[in-house]
Amino acid sequence: MNKKIKKILSKKNKSKIVSLTAYSKNIAKILDKYVDIVLVGDSMANVLYGHKNTSKISLENIIQHTLSVKMGIEKSLLVVDMPKGTYENKKIAFRNAKLIIKKTKCDAVKLESHKKNYKIIEYLINKKISVMGHIGFTPQYKKKFKVEGQNKKEIYKLLDEALKIEKAGAFSIVIECLSPLAAKTITRNLKIPTIGIGSSLNCDGQILVSDDMLGISGFYPKFVKKYVNLDKIIEKAVKKYTREVQLSKFPKNTNFLNGPKFRK
Ligand code: KIV
Repeated sequence: MNKKIKKILSKKNKSKIVSLTAYSKNIAKILDKYVDIVLVGDSMANVLYGHKNTSKISLENIIQHTLSVKMGIEKSLLVVDMPKGTYENKKIAFRNAKLIIKKTKCDAVKLESHKKNYKIIEYLINKKISVMGHIGFTPQYKKKFKVEGQNKKEIYKLLDEALKIEKAGAFSIVIECLSPLAAKTITRNLKIPTIGIGSSLNCDGQILVSDDMLGISGFYPKFVKKYVNLDKIIEKAVKKYTREVQLSKFPKNTNFLNGPKFRK
């Protein structure tokens, strides 16, 4: 097994797993210093491309962004979302997962749970592809956002789904928008780590969309904490640059490539 995956597994019940998304090198390079897992999420559909849902993201989009992210990664585990429609059956899933891994050299792929596709996960794992699962609010398949696991029946259903994904061989599982009790029940009953998003503290780790926590996406549901208003900081810098160009204050002598000696 990949050393980085072993490290993630060893954190269960010991220390929290930190994860964020990235879609390009410059952000990935910063994240890599601190986080355990960098996910190239298909959330890029909403965040970067302005789509209403994630279904329009293609395999080519994901591969292209992962190539950029990979350039910024040295130590963290690089996981890539398989876009909707790229893992409809075992053969298609294997062909596409293999292509993602071959082209990007990422460590693992993530599949959203749907119907009985834990069988596809099992197939990929038998073919030596590392897989992260994803249950709860799975944007590729569920249109209506709602907190899941609000009663015993729903919790048992989610637990059963998570256990099947674990049995299929996934090394960890994202649990999105689950009630605190559902998150606790699943986290306690699984040997693999749970990575929560909008699912309380009762998870082995947490993930957020970087652009949300940096305050640059314009999308801030209750479960997101904005750690900085990066949009304001960028705006301030762009405003200052604009003024300086308009007033001929930039570039200054020191910014000339050949130095001030060539100035009149
Ligand atoms: O696409 C994504 O960014 C994700 C995370 C929100 C878990 O799947």
